[in-house]
Amino acid sequence: MPLPVPVLPEGVDPAWLPPAAFRAVGSGRTLIRGSGPLVETVHGEVAEACRRFGGRVVRDAEPEGGAYDLVLDLGVHDLGDEDFTLARQGGTTAVTASGGRGLLYGLFHVVRLGEAAFTGERERERHHPALALRMLDHWDNVAVHPVMGQVERGYAGGSLFWEDGRARGDLERVRAYGRLLAACGINAVAVNNVNVHETEAHLLTDRIGEVAAIAEALQPYGIRTHLSVSFAAPVLLGGLPTADPLDEGVRGWWAEATGAVYEAIPDFGGYVVKADSEGQPGPFAYGRSHADGANLLAAALEPYGGTVHWRAFVYDHCQDWRDRGTDRARAAYDHFVPLDGAFADNAVLQVKHGPIDFQVREPVSPLIGAMPGTRLAVELQVTQEYTGQQRHVCWLGPMWSEVLRFPAEQGSSVGELTRGGLIAVSNAGDDPFWTGHPLAQANLYTFGRLAWRPDAEPGEVLDEWIGLTFGPGPEAGLHAVFDGSWRTYEKYTAPLGVGFMVQPGHHYGPSVDGYEYSPWGTYHFADRDGIGVDRSVATGTGYAGQYAKPWAELYESPDTCPDELLLFFHHVSYGHTLHSGKTVIQHIYDTHFEGVAEVEEARELWASLAGLVDPVRHTRVAERYEEQLRSAREWRDQINSYFFRKSGVPDERGRRVHP
Ligand code: GCU
Repeated sequence: MPLPVPVLPEGVDPAWLPPAAFRAVGSGRTLIRGSGPLVETVHGEVAEACRRFGGRVVRDAEPEGGAYDLVLDLGVHDLGDEDFTLARQGGTTAVTASGGRGLLYGLFHVVRLGEAAFTGERERERHHPALALRMLDHWDNVAVHPVMGQVERGYAGGSLFWEDGRARGDLERVRAYGRLLAACGINAVAVNNVNVHETEAHLLTDRIGEVAAIAEALQPYGIRTHLSVSFAAPVLLGGLPTADPLDEGVRGWWAEATGAVYEAIPDFGGYVVKADSEGQPGPFAYGRSHADGANLLAAALEPYGGTVHWRAFVYDHCQDWRDRGTDRARAAYDHFVPLDGAFADNAVLQVKHGPIDFQVREPVSPLIGAMPGTRLAVELQVTQEYTGQQRHVCWLGPMWSEVLRFPAEQGSSVGELTRGGLIAVSNAGDDPFWTGHPLAQANLYTFGRLAWRPDAEPGEVLDEWIGLTFGPGPEAGLHAVFDGSWRTYEKYTAPLGVGFMVQPGHHYGPSVDGYEYSPWGTYHFADRDGIGVDRSVATGTGYAGQYAKPWAELYESPDTCPDELLLFFHHVSYGHTLHSGKTVIQHIYDTHFEGVAEVEEARELWASLAGLVDPVRHTRVAERYEEQLRSAREWRDQINSYFFRKSGVPDERGRRVHP
């Protein structure tokens, strides 16, 4: 039986799957061959498109020459489960696959191509995801947290999964979410926050049925469900006296609990663990290593083919700001590199792309490439915690692409080294536009597509998203609105890779010294002469030495360090001349004035698209541009004044800097 396409609740934006995107598929004759649950999903999709556009769909007939415009055939056996081929000959477009997911991805590929899939001839192309795991981590709490709310660092309303303290009763929207994710290639989701609070800890045991209901809603679109668990679960839930990973009772407890999880969710993906990180429990309490901790859970998951994602975000969050010898950037490498080779095969070390915390500009984490004996997954942040919180347009495709293409190790890019998959913190919630800012949908889509092909051209992915979401008309203007938005955001916020300078706690808006005398290890050390963190080996914290060649040498000296990372690696004077020829102080003034001017231009450009974009969406974005502009001006004025007051050096162009 074809599975009906999920029905969006009234007023919810169809995002990149508006009915019009299915016009080409739905106006022809389609033959579907094969069996299995995902084939029914594919059938449901095509049937719905045909209902709308007048086409016809047939099951399991012989593909007679020329009788069909599209054949979706699960009959071939030489492809991976997620692969598909596409060809067009004699008026028939043919997708073949060996697995249901492959067939579904093939269908969505045809949808993306639209008319182009049904014209001319096409040689057989094989499509294969570069990364097997393409996963979103939801930082969703079941119970509303008194400080963090329901979705930690969420800017798109409440959780898609949890409502009123339990799993939603009506999961139709979760099905629709799964559909959107599949259409950009995402195949796994962790349904709760990495900070596992008391209520959420119970999802693992007595509340696993709720997780199972969500998993069931996501399965028809090929999405596996994962769960964040507390390392202290044996104590919290099992009443054991210890959570020591080498204790037999603890191992037995995890084995049993995991067996019950798989009984409830046979295709369960595995656990996500934030241990010994920002107050979460972990193996250090028992004098054990993080390999001991990860392997405990890996052993419990192994009989069922599950994976533990063990986060490498381990650092001292109670640092004394007076201590300039401790460097948070060093921490992950120092903790984990000595453990290389000690992790089980089904343990994946999940590493944030930069060494600090999802800033608008960071170097690539030196851990990536330094652990050849460990399966590593890179974590990105789609939710815009530090990049405008979905009130600012900041399309992160170019940043992620730079990270993924970075040649971390001789001959290998980050995209190639992230063998354990690509993971991102989700930006979606129950907001009618899914992502709060309608244009933040582009970040979610781009993440999925880059996880499928890390070397894809981000601009092409953007155009794909624009085409699907908006249809013909506003493409050029929209592309321009997004294109430079990440660099614009960088310009009006913290300069030259120094990071932070945000309001403590919620992290929105400027506060230059907000974290300067805090325990969090995120300092800029500005004084009257200069600014930046000396992370060189020669005179600083030694962090630059954690890189492989040539990066270690390049970052070691201010003469060779790239401008955009200068203050991340070095403490320099305000008069220091950058490679660009400008002094640091003049660069700060110029970029802050430019950044605001660019927001003003983008806002105008958006206004000019009024007739070309659906009015509800247009209005929401226009409102957010007002806030972006207000905030960008605030950033500009606070940063410029701060550095003028510290340095006493005026803007050489005489613009208004508040004294
Ligand atoms: C950031 C973020 C936290 C989050 C943490 C993490 O520090 O502000 O809310 O818990 O990252 O990645 O674990």
